[in-house]
Amino acid sequence: MLIDSYDRVVDYIRVSVTERCNFRCQYCMPEKPFSWVPKENLLSFEELFEFMKVAIDEGVKKIRITGGEPLLREDLDTFIKMISDYAPDVDLAMTSNAFLLKGTAQRLKDAGLKRINVSIDTLKPEVAEAIAGRNVLKNVLEGVEEALKVGLEVKANMVPMKGMNADEIFDVLEYCRERDITVRFIEYMENAYAKANISKLSGQEVLEALGEKYNFTSEGYDGASPAKYYRLENGYRFGIIEPYGDDFCKQCNRIRLTAEGNLIPCLYFDEAMSIAESVKKGDIKTAAAVLKEVVRTKPEKNRWGGEDDEVSTRAFYETGG
Ligand code: 5AD
Ligand code: SF4
Repeated sequence: MLIDSYDRVVDYIRVSVTERCNFRCQYCMPEKPFSWVPKENLLSFEELFEFMKVAIDEGVKKIRITGGEPLLREDLDTFIKMISDYAPDVDLAMTSNAFLLKGTAQRLKDAGLKRINVSIDTLKPEVAEAIAGRNVLKNVLEGVEEALKVGLEVKANMVPMKGMNADEIFDVLEYCRERDITVRFIEYMENAYAKANISKLSGQEVLEALGEKYNFTSEGYDGASPAKYYRLENGYRFGIIEPYGDDFCKQCNRIRLTAEGNLIPCLYFDEAMSIAESVKKGDIKTAAAVLKEVVRTKPEKNRWGGEDDEVSTRAFYETGG
């Protein structure tokens, strides 16, 4: 088992398979980056899988594939199948913008993917275009329907921004409720790459606005997820993620791997250790040692909002948020 210096069990790894994305979301990657990581620096699926085996053997029980947009990586289903054949009980999930899901959902499901988180920031085509930088809504919604049809469990993320999509929190919630999709409203996290002057709707403001229309009760955290959950009278459950705090750090169970092989103990710090060389050489022992060292050095909590406010300079599209 992987246990950090604060007695937290680390059993969840998020794997970014590419930082590239076909969207230019204002809160994440409004401009195409000056340069992408050269393709030859990316770990191959075989190399990533070598490390997944190490992580699973050490006790990892949940793997989430992220990006950028993971579906831009060709034949992603082959990677999913490698993991799922090796460890069918691993909770295998993906985060995607859903644009390419319509044509791929069945293959992903057949390969062993169980769950998917998609971004649903709006139900208006022109707002979707303003947020993502291209006309994406039709493909996104068709992708969501397809994912549901093939039997993937779907969760949705919405980042509400004032003057943009904040007036749609009810509509997105209802869209999700009708389809039995859990929606989580994520408070916008400032970062150096996002468009300037985004005005977030805070988690508190979301709750106040929803409170005018619904009665709901608070259920708190569910496991190690950073979301706090609320239940409407009709039984539907939604979540709020407020990244500016640290009370969710106590239950943090995750580390992250970038597409280049950097293993990151905490999203909010720059520190990372590379496993690239060891997996390329097939040196599993060293890869396992690096994994243990990264777990050992996992910080107790993020320092956002603290006195010595420390925010990572890493882009979210490198780590999949
Ligand atoms: N603030 C909050 N959430 C973000 N995401 C990406 N960038 C940010 C940010 N700056 C979330 C989006 C998307 C997921 C991949 O990460 O909700 O669905
Ligand atoms: Fe792409 Fe996701 Fe970032 Fe949007 S939030 S630009 S879809 S990686």
